[in-house]
Amino acid sequence: MVFQQIVQGRSRNFAYLFASRPGGSGFVVDPGPDPVPDRLLEIIRDLRVSVTAIILTHHHADHVAGTVALAAATGAAVHAHAETARLLSGRVRVDRLLVDGATLRWEENLAAVVLATPGHAPGSSCLVVNDTWLVTGDTLFIGDCGRTDLPEGDAAALFRSLQRLKGLPDHLAVCPGHDYGPVPIRRLGEEKEHNPALQAADLAAFKAIP
Ligand SMILES: [Fe+2]
Repeated sequence: MVFQQIVQGRSRNFAYLFASRPGGSGFVVDPGPDPVPDRLLEIIRDLRVSVTAIILTHHHADHVAGTVALAAATGAAVHAHAETARLLSGRVRVDRLLVDGATLRWEENLAAVVLATPGHAPGSSCLVVNDTWLVTGDTLFIGDCGRTDLPEGDAAALFRSLQRLKGLPDHLAVCPGHDYGPVPIRRLGEEKEHNPALQAADLAAFKAIP
């Protein structure tokens, strides 16, 4: 297996590279701001990975800015939720739509299950990769969650999405969309213990988190 977490830009975005093995095929999540594609491409070349998919967790510019360049360099198909495709409104061409519950596969040992998790953005999506990693975009951070005060944000939807993530197994490694926490990756079980966004008992308590 190949797993790489790449920090990028002033907002400390995380891009991810997953592949079946060095020399195998795989996908990139959220190729963010330039010049990140250069760094990503270097890693992709070093590991001889054939990137067949770019998966966007949502439409915000800091998560998608490198998509066109990376797709041109690799030939990868861009995957995003229908709402993300709509909100990108042509800035990035989306080739395939992410559907809740769908499983995407690469070779015999790499699979990503799609979870639609609206709230931070209407098309926000998370991925469970190989029952090991939980890629959360801006839905869940280490110790925090995404904001909902942007134009398309919806606190009630985010609360429901976080409750859904809370129902996933503790062993999953949370891979957030930004390096905002005390550590870059943490087990979901620890988030359930320490993250106020996962501890709120109801929507009112969730909205009251400072
Ligand atoms: Fe965002």
